[in-house]
Amino acid sequence: MGFYVTTPIYYVNAAPHLGHAYSTIAADVMARHHRQRGEATFFLTGTDEHGEPVADAAKAQGLEPRELADRNAQRFRDLMPVLGVSNDFFIRTSDAEHGAKVQEVLQRVHDNGFVHKGLYEGWYCPRCADFKAENEIAEGNRCPIHEIELVRESEENWFFALSQFQERLEQLYEERPDFVQPRERRNEALSFIKSGLNDVSLSRAKLTWGVTVPWDTDHVFYVWFDALLNYYTALTYARPGEDLVDEFWPATYHVIGKDILKFHTVFWPAILMAAGLPVPEHVFVHGFLLGADGRKMSKSLGNVLDPLEVVDRYGVEALRFYLLRDVTFGGDGATSMEAVGRRYTAELADELGNLASRTTAMLVRYRDGEVPATALDGALAADFTGLDATVAGHVDQAELSQALDAIWQRVRRLNRYVEESAPWTLAKDDSRADDLDRVLASLADGLRIVCVLLHPWLPETTVKVLDALGAPSTALQDARPGAVALGPAHKLEPLFPKERDSVPPAAAAS
Ligand code: ME8
Ligand code: MG
Repeated sequence: MGFYVTTPIYYVNAAPHLGHAYSTIAADVMARHHRQRGEATFFLTGTDEHGEPVADAAKAQGLEPRELADRNAQRFRDLMPVLGVSNDFFIRTSDAEHGAKVQEVLQRVHDNGFVHKGLYEGWYCPRCADFKAENEIAEGNRCPIHEIELVRESEENWFFALSQFQERLEQLYEERPDFVQPRERRNEALSFIKSGLNDVSLSRAKLTWGVTVPWDTDHVFYVWFDALLNYYTALTYARPGEDLVDEFWPATYHVIGKDILKFHTVFWPAILMAAGLPVPEHVFVHGFLLGADGRKMSKSLGNVLDPLEVVDRYGVEALRFYLLRDVTFGGDGATSMEAVGRRYTAELADELGNLASRTTAMLVRYRDGEVPATALDGALAADFTGLDATVAGHVDQAELSQALDAIWQRVRRLNRYVEESAPWTLAKDDSRADDLDRVLASLADGLRIVCVLLHPWLPETTVKVLDALGAPSTALQDARPGAVALGPAHKLEPLFPKERDSVPPAAAAS
């Protein structure tokens, strides 16, 4: 079985923001790590284009939904290379192939007896495209996420018999304690299930912007069912003439934010069960990036830090590093340009950048770029042995900040080693040439190992350093002391120039 990771597909009712970049970069780190392990890997992202959120936004701008979707889907698609994201496919739910597969799967759910007609009445948030239960309604009859007033909706439509899956879902959670991660989110999902499941609306009669219900062509599918199925449909047409379902279904990880927990941890496995399809291995639920005001960043609140501005000022690698370093993946965390600057200077420039510069410079200065083929310092080698397994273990659990921290401790360890072993002093004394060889070889190999392991977070920087060390392999199996020969080494330009820190965005752009 291959490794299959997905992001949510993003609404095209507005432009991408830092929250979207966050989930996508996290999934990218997982995909890149698994590729390093030599595993067949598929990484999917894309856009969610149907339903009220998009139809309403288009109407407000005097556009057809399709026009708005085309325009904004392109902005999401263009963002991926800017973020260093290595997705294997970009799905749009307006793709004809997607629509046809949605019809096929949901027809099966219907034929299996899990669909009936009913009347729905309730408080509805058009931005969530979701009816709110009594305990989900915020003060002033508002959506707790978007803070807009809910509307009373009532309509006759098709229902999915979610209530029939209560026991099977409880059993799934029982048998697979890591189906939903982290644990706190798993408990939240399970208690939602245990509180009793109602059947949910599967179609909309008033809307035309969606996938037509094949057994009742006056209806389109409720956008969430259309959207969730993207994870499955993409595998059937991402590679023309190939069906990737056998190799990659079910998904290894769906990475999502906590705002869409219920859909992915309750509705999604139930609809798959109803269609006779295997459920995903894991859903990883991360927290919210918060604005400087301490509230969730969202399109409707307008407190959004622009990822492109961060990229302009500090570079994409700094953005990738910052997001998974400053906010523990899984929890919530405030974000600000100042905090990016602090990580950039204190860690990327002063720790990793400095380590790489001085290591390569000393190899050039003291050994003409040759990397001594000497046994590594024993204590240092011990600190690096097993690190590859530690990192892989964390990434397997989607503990991306913990994995990064384990690596970063070794970056610091290497900087301490430079100070303790003072190669510049050894270089003054010819009788200590062997000691200097050992120090240089140990530094070079240590730097090489941290760069192999950091590669998913900092894909460009690490390739530059590995290249400068004359050891280009990024295979995870090489992240062990003495695994490959190094050299010749060459000097590096500063990886994270300090001036950047003080350049205001406007000046940087000109
Ligand atoms: O919900 N902090 O799309 P969406 C962290 N189309 N992550 C954030 C975030 C924040 N402040 N804001 C957004 C939808 N995200 C549906 C999904 S999936 C079948 C359909 C990220 O454009 C996070 O991953 O509102 C969140 O779950 C997602 O963007 C919501 O994106
Ligand atoms: Mg949203």
